Amino acid sequence: MKKSLILMIVTTIAVSLSIQALARDAQEIYNKTCAACHAAGAAGAPKTGDVAAWRPRLDKGMPALLASANNGTGAMPPKGLCMDCTDEEFTALIKYMSTAK
Ligand code: HEC
Repeated sequence: MKKSLILMIVTTIAVSLSIQALARDAQEIYNKTCAACHAAGAAGAPKTGDVAAWRPRLDKGMPALLASANNGTGAMPPKGLCMDCTDEEFTALIKYMSTAK
């Protein structure tokens, strides 16, 4: 009885660890891709943490921002160079960049 309980706990921990390893977090993607332009505001990119710069963009609504992220706009390249990013990840990235640091 005790043994099977321990086994169950170990299995639960192992499963939750592997789920965590699969999901990339926004910060990690940001550092690899978006930061190249959005950290310093290169080529007119709205800077990360600059709430005022992001406000008029956010006012367009998330669907419009997702469209820009996917297709590119101005000097912003399609998919922000994150070719395998999903809309969910773009949403998390946009929230990450448009919030005060
Ligand atoms: C090569 C530089 C570059 C990279 C890399 C980059 N961006 Fe941008 N981004 C820009 C520039 C420049 C703009 C401003 C475009 C404009 O409005 O003319 C911009 C604007 C945006 C906007 C606002 C679009 C709008 O409609 O107002 C979003 C959202 C965005 N970027 C998301 C991202 C995300 C998410 C990533 C990473 C996956 C990323 N960007 C990576 C340069 C970049």
